[in-house]
Amino acid sequence: MTTQARPDVGIIGGTGFYTLLAESEQITVDTPFGPPSGPLTVGEVGGRTVAFLARHGADHRFPPHKINYRANIWALRAVGVRQVLAPCAVGSLLPELGPGSLVVPDQIVDRTSGRHRTYYDSGAVHVSFADPYCPVGRETVLKTAHEHGNPVTDGGTTVVIDGPRFSSRAESRWYARQGWSLVNMTGQPEASLARELALCYTSIALVTDLDAGLAPGDEVQQQDVFQVFAENVERLQALLLRVVDALPRKPACRCGAVLDGIDLPFEPA
Ligand code: ADE
Repeated sequence: MTTQARPDVGIIGGTGFYTLLAESEQITVDTPFGPPSGPLTVGEVGGRTVAFLARHGADHRFPPHKINYRANIWALRAVGVRQVLAPCAVGSLLPELGPGSLVVPDQIVDRTSGRHRTYYDSGAVHVSFADPYCPVGRETVLKTAHEHGNPVTDGGTTVVIDGPRFSSRAESRWYARQGWSLVNMTGQPEASLARELALCYTSIALVTDLDAGLAPGDEVQQQDVFQVFAENVERLQALLLRVVDALPRKPACRCGAVLDGIDLPFEPA
């Protein structure tokens, strides 16, 4: 990192976000957990230095269950990031949240298995996760979206499934009956790993489809998901740039203090 200040904001997003950062620099970071999905792209947004990481890597090479979530979050922290914005595509479990809707979820249910989900495979480190997302990050996204006329839904529970297949109708109806509103494949363990490294983490969910249980006759199709995401990516990018600018330099939340008083087996980068 030669020309820029250290980034304090990180964005983990889809491939369509590369163009977000003008005058960017690519940085390769190695981690104790192996390589992240790709190099970090570091650039300026309104006088603030931001690191971008493509969650699925170049050419979308890593499906959700193959992403090295530990390396991704570690790499962001290692270059200085303390606040993470995480745009993602989600299916909707509520008829009123149609494709194109933006949601800032406030809860998560983890239905994944077999993913490396913790940094703390030794010692006694149990972080609080009652409220998985940063309250300051959430408020900033909601306020910024409202100020710029972007309709956005405040709150909702994302259920994270392993994929890479979509849900059966029975699974989807079951998720909806639990009162969960969104379904995706990448929200975990990304959110809890961020918490384990004391980072602020905010999910910004773009609804790309109505999930199988909601759309009798129709099935969720990958092409539709990618197309709706592509149709909305500019709107999402514009919102993200504004949110980066609006995020406080020192957030007044407890995310950064979550490891205080815990005896750690190692120091996070
Ligand atoms: N990502 C986008 N749409 C999805 C869906 N319906 N199920 C799981 N993940 C998704």
